[in-house]
Amino acid sequence: MCGIVGILGKQAVAGDIVEALRRLEYRGYDSAGVATVENGLLDRRRAEGKLRNLEARLHNQPLQGRTGIGHTRWATHGKPVERNAHPHMSAKVSVVHNGIIENFRELKAELTADGYKFETETDTETVVHLLTRELGRGVKPVDAVANMLPRLQGAFALGIIFAGNDNLMIGARNGPPLAVGHGDGEMYLGSDAIALAPFTDQVTYLEDGDWAIVTREGVEVRNAGGMRVQRPMIRSPAGTMLVDKGNHRHFMAKEIHEQPEVIGHTLANYIDMAEGRVRFPDLGLDLSAITRVTISACGTAYYAGLVAKYWIEHYARIPVEIDVASEMRYREAPLPKGGLAVFVTQSGETADTLATLRYCKGEGQKIAAVVNVRTSSIARESDAILPTLAGPEIGVASTKAFTCQLSVLACLAIALGKAQGKISDAKEQELVNALTEVPRHITTILRQEAQYEQLAHYLGKAKDVLYLGRGSSFPLALEGALKLKEISYIHAEGYAAGELKHGPIALIDETMPVVVVAPKDELFEKTVSNMQEVAARGGQIIIVTNAESGAAGCPVHAHIQMPDTHPFTSPLLYAIPMQLIAYHTAVFMGTDVDQPRNLAKSVTVE
Ligand code: F6R
Repeated sequence: MCGIVGILGKQAVAGDIVEALRRLEYRGYDSAGVATVENGLLDRRRAEGKLRNLEARLHNQPLQGRTGIGHTRWATHGKPVERNAHPHMSAKVSVVHNGIIENFRELKAELTADGYKFETETDTETVVHLLTRELGRGVKPVDAVANMLPRLQGAFALGIIFAGNDNLMIGARNGPPLAVGHGDGEMYLGSDAIALAPFTDQVTYLEDGDWAIVTREGVEVRNAGGMRVQRPMIRSPAGTMLVDKGNHRHFMAKEIHEQPEVIGHTLANYIDMAEGRVRFPDLGLDLSAITRVTISACGTAYYAGLVAKYWIEHYARIPVEIDVASEMRYREAPLPKGGLAVFVTQSGETADTLATLRYCKGEGQKIAAVVNVRTSSIARESDAILPTLAGPEIGVASTKAFTCQLSVLACLAIALGKAQGKISDAKEQELVNALTEVPRHITTILRQEAQYEQLAHYLGKAKDVLYLGRGSSFPLALEGALKLKEISYIHAEGYAAGELKHGPIALIDETMPVVVVAPKDELFEKTVSNMQEVAARGGQIIIVTNAESGAAGCPVHAHIQMPDTHPFTSPLLYAIPMQLIAYHTAVFMGTDVDQPRNLAKSVTVE
């Protein structure tokens, strides 16, 4: 994951920037760089690989500027080579960037037609040229940024410095976090407070959509509409802790809000965003010859696997066998030799999942693990690791690990579909483009968080809650119910919407909230019919949908409007309301959100 650092210092800052970048190494990176303003001119040093390579370069050719930005890059658009490493720059401006500029192809075409030459394969270079064009027209730096930001689509954070201006640094946040650090006559910018801990513990977290005009005298924060806004300066405990809650009340909230960033990074590991293609690692297996896929996992990770079953069967037309690991380990299911067995796990230590893995290995399966902790037992015992780049997940309830698992599994489904000749090049591009848009859409959903606080006042009084969904939304109904019960202790059940009339409908009366996960896909009308059945019996419907017609005339208690997106990516997006409903209800109930009773983060016993 990319890391951003900026310093307006009293003396040469390059060394301090490298030190701060070192504290962001935990995020993972493949190249690094620093740029400073020296005698009014911008200059930079960049290097492939570890920070020591950048340090060696700075040792041979020091940078003396007192104003600088630095970056550790996790390649998204373009190979991890020096040419693509940040900072990117022109004679007028230098930029570091974390995230994805989704509309970079359109911007690149526009700028190329305007005579701008692109030297890199990155999306970031479009920001440099957009700003350079503004500055070339005589627009002042702050106004140039104000004019440029609305042109960008996607989820991103930026750090910017300007030639001829030794006392200005601009940071912008649209999704991924960014913090401003306050020093004594010095000011800082960082992807998180951990990077800034050696310099200051006085931190202002930018809110989503904010941008900050930083000088040595202080910071002026503006919101997306360009209005000046006040953001509090808080004391950060990051100096003593590797992972902190930022300005969130719980780790769970922080982890929910990290999703645009970590999903972007996870996707970047499996797709070539510039080409719009899946770039899947070699599983040591001929994907075109696979006739069956076996998936096993526990809890939330199992629901990610269940979504993958729908995706793989639909897009690759390969039958998928799936079971919870605690059942599969003793079932002695017959498995055809040479098949692919996929294990999904955040911790990589779940005892049942590990035991099932060993069983499948014994049955001659090729083992692939979708895993967050790369040093874990499951990672070590697998033939191939498909990492989720979610970063440490501290809250017991899985949130960002789940959506990162879905991201990897979505790419697996496309890779299998391609290899089996079931997905054309054009379809691949369509699906990859839809995935690329996910971080931005999640950012939009997170901006509407207030409605969930309101809903919590209602749900917090319920004794039971039902969740319904069809197709790939069925696992989301299961996940919504699991999230609610584990952190709020309210009894909740998820059902396939069509199963309602086979039993659960007996529970419905006017005291029963029913959350309906209903993206506008080919199953929407059928879900609406099930919803009518609930409404007719007095059930209180909370519909989560992107349908313009909302609940299609059905009376509802609440309507959560989702962005209009490709049906393929619905599970990734609808996971967010499931998390927010549970989180805010638990906060309303006053439970221990991050460490709910009776639960452990890593379940190493049967
Ligand atoms: C629920 C949750 C659990 C885990 C399950 C598997 O929010 O976190 O259901 O998903 O215990 O854990 P991992 O993914 O570590 O194998």
